[in-house]
Amino acid sequence: TKDGHSSFMAKEIHEQPEAVRRTLSGRLGSDGAVSLGELGISDKALARIQKIVIVACGTASYGGQIAKYALERWCRIPVEVDLAHEFRYRSPLVDDRTLVIAISQSGETMDTLMAVRYAREQGATVLAICNTVGATIPREADGVLYTHAGPEVAVASTKAFLTQVTATLLLALYLAQMRGSGDPTEISAAARELAGIPGRVQSVLAGAGQIEALAASMADVTSVLFIGRHVGHPVAMEGALKLKELAYIHAEGFAAGELKHGPIALIEPGQAVVVIMPSPAASPVLHAKMMSTIQEIKARGGRVIAVGEEGDAATTADALLTVPASSPLLAPLLTAIPLQLFAASLAGAKGLDIDQPRNLAKSVTVE
Ligand code: BG6
Repeated sequence: TKDGHSSFMAKEIHEQPEAVRRTLSGRLGSDGAVSLGELGISDKALARIQKIVIVACGTASYGGQIAKYALERWCRIPVEVDLAHEFRYRSPLVDDRTLVIAISQSGETMDTLMAVRYAREQGATVLAICNTVGATIPREADGVLYTHAGPEVAVASTKAFLTQVTATLLLALYLAQMRGSGDPTEISAAARELAGIPGRVQSVLAGAGQIEALAASMADVTSVLFIGRHVGHPVAMEGALKLKELAYIHAEGFAAGELKHGPIALIEPGQAVVVIMPSPAASPVLHAKMMSTIQEIKARGGRVIAVGEEGDAATTADALLTVPASSPLLAPLLTAIPLQLFAASLAGAKGLDIDQPRNLAKSVTVE
């Protein structure tokens, strides 16, 4: 049931603090030590890994792109992220020292399953990050890390996405702690911060009313651009996907640094641009660059909606959707939420069925 919410998606968005808590439960000690006892892949096998390839589709692929930043920084292992349907058709370099991570909410996406089968044929070790216990992908993989988000009914993924990102952060912390890689101070601080994320997710949800009002004023937009840097780049792409899926509005997500290399030609008076702000305190250089990007957009008459930390000076934006402060690699767990609310509210303002968008299926079991 919808538990009093107007849609399953609204319910699932509001379940996110609890869903993330379940992903962390029993895996993150109060001392910051991560234990993934149920993984099914030995530490000995994980210690041999020289390369990671993440395969996934749709929202899960953006989760994978976020994971790359944490895995490379903390574990010092090169990471590639591939759309599952592209993976086996490009002669990928995969061998018995490669860990292939397949991310899938349903565990039944045929494109992802075929990538898993191909990877295992090449001798790779395959880890599934999955929400559905006992699904085909985790059954065929060597090991599995379940997200435990609970059933996700709405076609567009919300709590599954947030818990996929949480699970990959746990995995990155685990690998770093086991292999002794990365900066130990940063890694233990990140583990402690992760434990407090459910409460911060809850506080982002408290801003839903402001976002609904903004969306209601934008029900007639025909195009929205989303830009971000660092992990804000995949968050921007996820925000654009949500808007396409739910509100049938043309949207594009790209790296903010690319704006001047082409897409800036699209900026004309009134063009809406959602900007995922880097943290002013944690990423001052990237924050400053983003401030000048905002100036470039404003100078051409664009309408800037910033998603940024409380107190961010980016008030040159026309609207600021705030999230609590966080370290850079954990920020997507917060910045993705206003974008979910934005897409759902815009779809609602247009009178659309947000649980069952046209032409989409929850799980695509054909290649
Ligand atoms: C798409 C769904 O078809 O499959 C998306 O509409 C989803 O919401 C994608 O992100 C991947 O699904 P899964 O189950 O493999 O995570």
